[in-house]
Amino acid sequence: MKRLIVSLVMSAFSMSSIAQEGPTMGWSSWNTYRVNISDTLIKRQASALIQKGLKDVGYTYINVDDGFFGFRNEQGQMVPHPQRFPRGMKTLADFIHSLGLKAGIYSDAGAVTCGSIWDNDSNGIGVGLYGHEEQDAKLYFRDWGFDFIKIDYCGAGQELDLDEKERYAQISRAINKVGASDVKINICRWAFPGTWAKELATSWRISGDITDSWDSVKEIVEKNLPLSAYCSDGHFNDMDMLEIGRSLTESEERVHFGLWCLMSSPLLIGCDMATISDKSLSLLKNEELIALNQDHLALQAYPVQANEGTYVLVKDIVKRRGTTRAVALYNPTNESRHISIALHELELEGKTAIRDLFNHKQLEPVNDSITADVTPHDVAIFRIESERRIEPKCYEAEWAFLPLYNDLGKRKKEVLYASNEHASVGRVVTMAGGSRENSIVWNNVYSQHGGDYLMKIRYVPKPKSGIEVIVNESPIPVPGLEQTGQFSSIVIPVRLNAGNNCVEMTCSTMWMPDIDNFELEKR
Ligand code: GLA
Repeated sequence: MKRLIVSLVMSAFSMSSIAQEGPTMGWSSWNTYRVNISDTLIKRQASALIQKGLKDVGYTYINVDDGFFGFRNEQGQMVPHPQRFPRGMKTLADFIHSLGLKAGIYSDAGAVTCGSIWDNDSNGIGVGLYGHEEQDAKLYFRDWGFDFIKIDYCGAGQELDLDEKERYAQISRAINKVGASDVKINICRWAFPGTWAKELATSWRISGDITDSWDSVKEIVEKNLPLSAYCSDGHFNDMDMLEIGRSLTESEERVHFGLWCLMSSPLLIGCDMATISDKSLSLLKNEELIALNQDHLALQAYPVQANEGTYVLVKDIVKRRGTTRAVALYNPTNESRHISIALHELELEGKTAIRDLFNHKQLEPVNDSITADVTPHDVAIFRIESERRIEPKCYEAEWAFLPLYNDLGKRKKEVLYASNEHASVGRVVTMAGGSRENSIVWNNVYSQHGGDYLMKIRYVPKPKSGIEVIVNESPIPVPGLEQTGQFSSIVIPVRLNAGNNCVEMTCSTMWMPDIDNFELEKR
């Protein structure tokens, strides 16, 4: 009875936020097979996914990546590769669906595929979506019945130098026009494309291609650390397909899978599932980690501490601003590290239960801090449940939403998150300001009861710079800033409403100094 009451209370809490569909889970052909695919190979993998019990824990997509293209016929219609897919793509999608799975396909925003450039696949020439948007959308989704598409950019970028936002918008319009608006779209432009991506896609790649190596895993995590603000409402930063079950060490696989889960990346297995080792398979089937990835809040963990090369990441699960959180103590360095974080830094207080999600083990409860000795290239991931949630004291630049942010590197002097060894969690936001729109926004600045606070803004002085602070759309006066020196700070009084507040920093007339964070102290 007690359990029933607890679960009723829990579900009442959960209903307070809208449940989101989690990141895409499944398998994709690229990492192991590149363009050397065929319908027998894909069918074998689809069957292996079922046999290995992966479908039972949530992996449902079988995604055909580059390599299925044949040629365009006289009507411009895409014909699949006659030797690799002799029975056509509809038969394959039907087979995948008959197993209770979903089917994904691949194309390019330009005329040629990446495989035609990098893998000498001459069948990839002229088969991209360019000039055939509606025709291909109708074929792939209406005629063949695919449910997902990854849209690459080699043809559009390298060959045609098209504008990303316009190009993906055109393709999305064509997909909607043929009545396939429920198809999941993945933007594959190898960098965070811009805040517009959320309107057009369910996920977008944030990095170049992953490789089967530790350096690659580490680099992608680094890239994604400051991007949690762009993961929202069921739209996700894509850290790329998984290299689990290939040549990473056991601890590196833990980092790879654990952080892809915690950071809510799509989970697309990239190995041969028929021959995967038991160890890697059981990692991919760790339901406690998958639960973090598929949690209905659909949030991405963000960094709260950086120390001697290690990071602590955290996110809410179950309920926003509740007492249950998921935490990672991550050691990407080449030496063992003792990592410790005070509970109040995690906004928690009181007796705290800790569950180790790799070892499925409940640890001794703590009252003050969470600690672990973490070996090189490894991570500990915990689900923690505390007695009380306390008000956050500090908001970092790497948690902020930058409306004009993209990582395309096409324009000079664009706003970005930049490494700074003296910044509190390792990064500052630089090149904000210069126009009202080029701002830094924290949407969830929380005050339990509302009231008067002192806001202390930590920044790196810059000549001829200024800050305008806007709280819930009201401008707050900010005195003149230091223009030279290392880090500096300025304190201003602000009034917050009870609940979530929006804090924005910008400067319409000058650049802003680099911003590290701001702290709040109740008056
Ligand atoms: C690009 C993508 C990869 C893969 C290949 C296919 O490199 O980023 O994920 O799809 O193209 O050629």
